[in-house]
Amino acid sequence: MADWWDADGRRHRKQFSNSAAAREHEHRETALAHAERATREMKLAARSSGTKKTPKAEQTGTVDPAKGKLGIMLPGMGAVATTFVAGVEAVRKGLAKPIGSLTQMGTIRLGKRTDGRSPKVKEFVPLAGLDDLVFTGWDIFEDNMYESATNAGVLDYRLLEQLKPFLSGIKPRPAVFDHNYVKKIDGPNVKKGKNKMDLAEQLRADIRDFKKTSGASRLVTMWCGSTESYIEPTEAHQSLKAFEKALRENDEMIAPSMMYAYASLMEGVPFANGAPNLTVDLPVMLELSRKNEAPICGKDFKTGQTLMKTVLAPAFKARLLGLSGWYSTNILGNRDGEVLDDPGSFKTKEESKLGVLEHILQPGLYPELYGNIFHKVRINYYPPRGDNKEGWDNIDIFGWLGYPMQIKVDFLCRDSILAAPIVLDLVLFLDLAKRSSELRGLGIQEWLSFFFKSPMTVPGLYPEHDLFIQSMKLKNTLRHLMGEGLITHLGLEYYD
Ligand SMILES: NC(=O)c1ccc[n+]([C@@H]2O[C@H](COP(=O)([O-])OP(=O)(O)OC[C@H]3O[C@@H](n4cnc5c(N)ncnc54)[C@H](O)[C@@H]3O)[C@@H](O)[C@H]2O)c1
Repeated sequence: MADWWDADGRRHRKQFSNSAAAREHEHRETALAHAERATREMKLAARSSGTKKTPKAEQTGTVDPAKGKLGIMLPGMGAVATTFVAGVEAVRKGLAKPIGSLTQMGTIRLGKRTDGRSPKVKEFVPLAGLDDLVFTGWDIFEDNMYESATNAGVLDYRLLEQLKPFLSGIKPRPAVFDHNYVKKIDGPNVKKGKNKMDLAEQLRADIRDFKKTSGASRLVTMWCGSTESYIEPTEAHQSLKAFEKALRENDEMIAPSMMYAYASLMEGVPFANGAPNLTVDLPVMLELSRKNEAPICGKDFKTGQTLMKTVLAPAFKARLLGLSGWYSTNILGNRDGEVLDDPGSFKTKEESKLGVLEHILQPGLYPELYGNIFHKVRINYYPPRGDNKEGWDNIDIFGWLGYPMQIKVDFLCRDSILAAPIVLDLVLFLDLAKRSSELRGLGIQEWLSFFFKSPMTVPGLYPEHDLFIQSMKLKNTLRHLMGEGLITHLGLEYYD
């Protein structure tokens, strides 16, 4: 006998041969329920010419108000984490604008195009305000956030000086670290324990301590740590029971990021993964997330080159232009670039970057156009550039009668400047999901795919990578949560 949870969070008991079979059953049922729900909503929306009101929020679910402080916990206090925290403080002090943040600057259209209703996202859904955010983090180095931000060299020192008192007060808690998973770095600020379960318990104690000392009423964890070596799931990751046994037995297939995720989910805290590590992409984490109503999502922030890919590839597909090759290369000189110089960590990143084209272009549906693509991704560690990455793309496409053409993209971007607003949006939206009676028990928050190179989906569903579909999905989820009509862009009613 084993328990499984349906898409509405109801618990069922059934005879299964083992817990993996129970989870598989659960995943199938959930995917089916989501598909049925989506079909029902599409039909409803189509019947009312695209502006059908979904039932009011009180009828489908409730969203608790964002009362009190929101505590943000950051495993990994490097370039991205410090650029994010420094940025929030700079915005709070009126020194800069939160550019790139959907929650802070984005608007959302409601009703018909003629209604003229486009509030800001943060005014439409009840999100935590920036003034209510408090922070902590873990790192293998002892630098506080001011020192770490200075070392990262992303932000101008004149801005950092103004933020120094605040940033200096955020000191890293000792990390759970395993050099085998990140070969290029080592540091002194590391926890010791008799086994991995003991280390995970210490992380849980840190979480409880932060909640108490900061006075936060709610928490979110966001992995901003280095990219860990590539591994594949094993038996140890298939269920909570197997995972906890493996923790006690020091199983080498349990990476540090998984221990942070386990600790967070055990404490009922939502967890997002900014790196391409396996971390929460595991049956055990889905089980825990659903059981403890702690939403998960990830992985790998969609920032520079992949952002461009998920904009260009949908355009080729929409116009039925063929693709024969896509060669992407990068030079990057920050610590992330150094970590990715290790083949194990690079393989994790490569897998995440490569999946995108195949899912968008669907070669199975368009074999003449996308059946034979040569796709290559390279990342080269080049210290002189620091955080200011340069990414080149050479794209070989073909058009009418097969005539070849080329596109070149040269993106001189700033990695952490692109990632920081994503961190902000993710923590605010995950907190919203946790306060939504409809979303918190679902586990994976697929509506947050917009922010990731490798979005998470329930097993059996292919991920949606097209940036514009992801954006529509996110905004329709917000409309749905607040009892507003979904927008299908049908628009026939304007011509009645
Ligand atoms: N900046 C971007 O555009 C971008 C995009 C996608 C993904 N990412 C990913 O985000 C992550 C952070 O990037 P970054 O530029 O800040 O890197 P970074 O190297 O500056 O910071 C990572 C920090 O994590 C720490 N760390 C490593 N293992 C740890 C552990 N087990 N516990 C606690 N701390 C640990 C390191 O000491 C380091 O300070 C990386 O994995 C990167 O691949 C970044």
